[in-house]
Amino acid sequence: MASSSAPIRTARRVDRFTYAIRQVVAEARKVEQAGTKVRYLNIGDPNAFGFLTPPHLIEAVERAMRDGHNGYAPSPGIPAAREAAAADFTARGVPLDADRVLITSGTSEGIELALTAIVDEGEEVLVPSPTYPLYTAVLAKIGAEPVYYRTDPDNGWLPDLDHLRGLITAKTRALVVIDPNNPTGAIYPESMRRALIELAESHGLVILADEVYGDLGFEGPVPAMAALAPDAAIISYSSLSKAYLAPGWRAGWMGIGRTPRLDAALAAIKKLADGRLCSPAPMQYAVTAALTGDRSHQATFRRALAERAALTTARFNEMPGMSVVAPRAAFYAMPRVTLPPGRTDVDFVLGLLRATGVLCVYGSGFGLPAEGGYFRVVFLASLPELESIYKDVAGYAAEFASSNE
Ligand SMILES: Cc1ncc(COP(=O)(O)O)c(C=O)c1O
Repeated sequence: MASSSAPIRTARRVDRFTYAIRQVVAEARKVEQAGTKVRYLNIGDPNAFGFLTPPHLIEAVERAMRDGHNGYAPSPGIPAAREAAAADFTARGVPLDADRVLITSGTSEGIELALTAIVDEGEEVLVPSPTYPLYTAVLAKIGAEPVYYRTDPDNGWLPDLDHLRGLITAKTRALVVIDPNNPTGAIYPESMRRALIELAESHGLVILADEVYGDLGFEGPVPAMAALAPDAAIISYSSLSKAYLAPGWRAGWMGIGRTPRLDAALAAIKKLADGRLCSPAPMQYAVTAALTGDRSHQATFRRALAERAALTTARFNEMPGMSVVAPRAAFYAMPRVTLPPGRTDVDFVLGLLRATGVLCVYGSGFGLPAEGGYFRVVFLASLPELESIYKDVAGYAAEFASSNE
C-alpha cells in the first residue's frame, strides 16, 4: 500500500488557540535545563505552594471510592451534590432548584458547556481585558469572537461601562464577568454589578458570572452577583479548585438562573452534558462535603492571602518604574513595568525568567496590549520566598530599565 509522507494536518482552530499560562512553561523548562532553578509564579494552584485540601473532602472522595461509586454518575451530577450546590446558591441569595444545577469538571467545563450551548459560530462574547484566558480559548474552539471590554487600572481595574456599552452589536450573545477577578484581584462594588446586569438585561445578553474566587475576598466571602437580580439571565459558577484547595480534582458546579428565559439554555447545556457522560464521580461526593461541611480552612486561607497581597503590593510599588493596584481577593496581582521604547511585556517576562528563574505571565497573554508592560504574579509562595523573589525582580527591573538607555 502506498503511504504518504506528509504530516497529518491540524485544524485551523488550533492556530487561534493560545493559553499563555501554560505555554510559558516551555520557556521555563529551557531555563531549567540550562541549570537555573525556576520559581513558578505562573499558575494559580494553591496545592503547589503547600495549601492542603481539607481532610474531610479527601475522606469523602475516599469513602465514595470504597463504597463503589466508581461507575458513571448521572450526566448533570449526583443528586446530593446538585442539591448541596442549589442550597448553597439559595443561601447566597440566588434561589435555585437542584434541577438548574450541574456538576462539572471544574468551572472550565461549565464555561465550555454554556458557551457551546448558547453562542453560534461568528457570534460575539464580551470578555474583560485582561481576562482569564479560558474564555478566549473556548471561543476559538467554537469559532466565536471574543470582544474585549476594558477594565481600568486607574479605577481599581473596574469595567469601563462606556467602552463596554459601545461594543454591543446584534451579534453579541453573552457578557463574561469575573468577579473577584483573575488576573487583577479586583472586586466590583454593588453599583458596578447592578450596572452590568442592567446593561446585559437591556440587550438580552446572558451573563456568565465566574465566581471561583467568591469565597476568597480578603475581607470575607463576596456576595454572588445573581443575588442582586435572581430573575436576570445569569449563569453562576464555582468549584473546588480555589476556595476548597482541590484544583486537580476537576470538580465544579454551575447554576442556571431561574428565569424561564434560560430554560432552553438549560436544556441545551444538559443535552451537551449527556455527550460527555459525567464529571468524575467520586469527586462529586466532595462537592457535597464541601458545601455542607466545615469551611474554617477558608478563613485561614484568606488571612494568608491578605498578608501575601499586602507584601506584594508594597514591594512592587516601591520598585522604581513599577506599580501595582492592590488586589482585594484571590492570589494574583497585575503589576506594570515601564517599558523602554520598542520593548514588550513578553521581553520583560522572558528576560526576568532567564536572568532570575522567576516565571510570571505577560499581560498580553490575558488580552492586554503587549506594549502596556503588565504581567501577572501569583503570590501563593511563603512570605520569605516572596521577599526573595521580589528582590530578584527589583534587581532585574533596574537592569531592564537601563537596557535601552
Ligand atoms: C477566573 C477563573 N475561572 C475559571 C478557572 C478554572 O477553574 P476550574 O479549576 O474550576 O476549572 C480559573 C482558574 O484559574 C480562573 O482563574
